[in-house]
Amino acid sequence: MIDATELVKELQEMRDGGFLSDALLRQAVKRIAVADDRYDWVGVYLLNDEGDELWLHNYVGEPTEHAKIAVGQGVCGTAVETKENQNVPDVSELDNYLACSPHVQSELVVLIRAGDEIFGQIDLDSEEPAAFTEKDESALEAVADKLAEQIAAERR
Ligand code: SME
Repeated sequence: MIDATELVKELQEMRDGGFLSDALLRQAVKRIAVADDRYDWVGVYLLNDEGDELWLHNYVGEPTEHAKIAVGQGVCGTAVETKENQNVPDVSELDNYLACSPHVQSELVVLIRAGDEIFGQIDLDSEEPAAFTEKDESALEAVADKLAEQIAAERR
């Protein structure tokens, strides 16, 4: 499990030290990726200005061909379209799944948002089936909320 309290504290300290969202997003991905063996691929996608595509900001794991994902496509695009986090226990059951690697079995997408305004998402893939729990989701939500605070502050 990711220790969200610890990571949120670290991200706030970075904010206090003047670091911008770009640095926070990279640090968060690095920390999450080493936090648990179930987290095989971890990345952040940001919604473009038009609000119709997710662009891959940074990741740890195997290279992916999905640098850009249209809203509505795959697990990632569905999260934005429905404005809901996605916890998919078995990706093989989805019709519109965008495969990153043939080994991935489950996926968790947690939105980076300020209320109804969506900035992007944290995306996790696992090679274990049904790898992600509600505890993972709420821990990652706390991290996503801290990232959203900095992104919102830069857009004011
Ligand atoms: N599986 C995602 C695509 C992103 S890769 O996992 C890195 C999806 O279906 O949207």
